Amino acid sequence: MSVNTIEHNRTRQNFDGVSSVWLFGYGSLIYKVDFPFLEQQPASIEGWVRRFWQGSHDHRGTREAPGRVVTLIEQPGAVCKGMAYRVSPDVFEHLDHREKNGYLRFSTAMTFDDGRQEQGLVYIATEDNEAFLGHAPDADIALQISRSVGPSGRNDEYLLKLAEALRHLGDDDPHVFAIEAMLSA
Ligand code: BEZ
Repeated sequence: MSVNTIEHNRTRQNFDGVSSVWLFGYGSLIYKVDFPFLEQQPASIEGWVRRFWQGSHDHRGTREAPGRVVTLIEQPGAVCKGMAYRVSPDVFEHLDHREKNGYLRFSTAMTFDDGRQEQGLVYIATEDNEAFLGHAPDADIALQISRSVGPSGRNDEYLLKLAEALRHLGDDDPHVFAIEAMLSA
């Protein structure tokens, strides 16, 4: 699949007659909220883990030297914590552009911290997208992140902001925190 997913996303869901949609954020959407929302709730989704396995050449790296950003990888029984936003469907025009580097919108069930459940959307970069990098040892990922910089800034700033936001949510994400610790070692 081509890296630019704007056109793919436009045809994935039909928002006719829909006034608001829940969106689950597990990466930069937790700390970079540059879109209007109607409501916000800490939430989690089941069966997925957050991994620094997606290459970034449009935000935190370049085509020649891609950075690494998070995507979700299926893992039965796992729980991924994040932030859910109830948004107007118009917001997806902005977000599809912001997250155009390989991310597609998928439907997901999400559970709020108060136990309520809703169906919503989540952006996932699957392994068939051209920018997918996949697994690497934590130390290699930390090194790549420490060296990468792109139009949106340094890759290590992305990691540090995400780690801080996850701590704020009370999340214990061993993958993110292990790479963060290696960065500052
Ligand atoms: C997220 O925070 O959910 C997210 C951020 C960037 C790309 C895809 C998802």
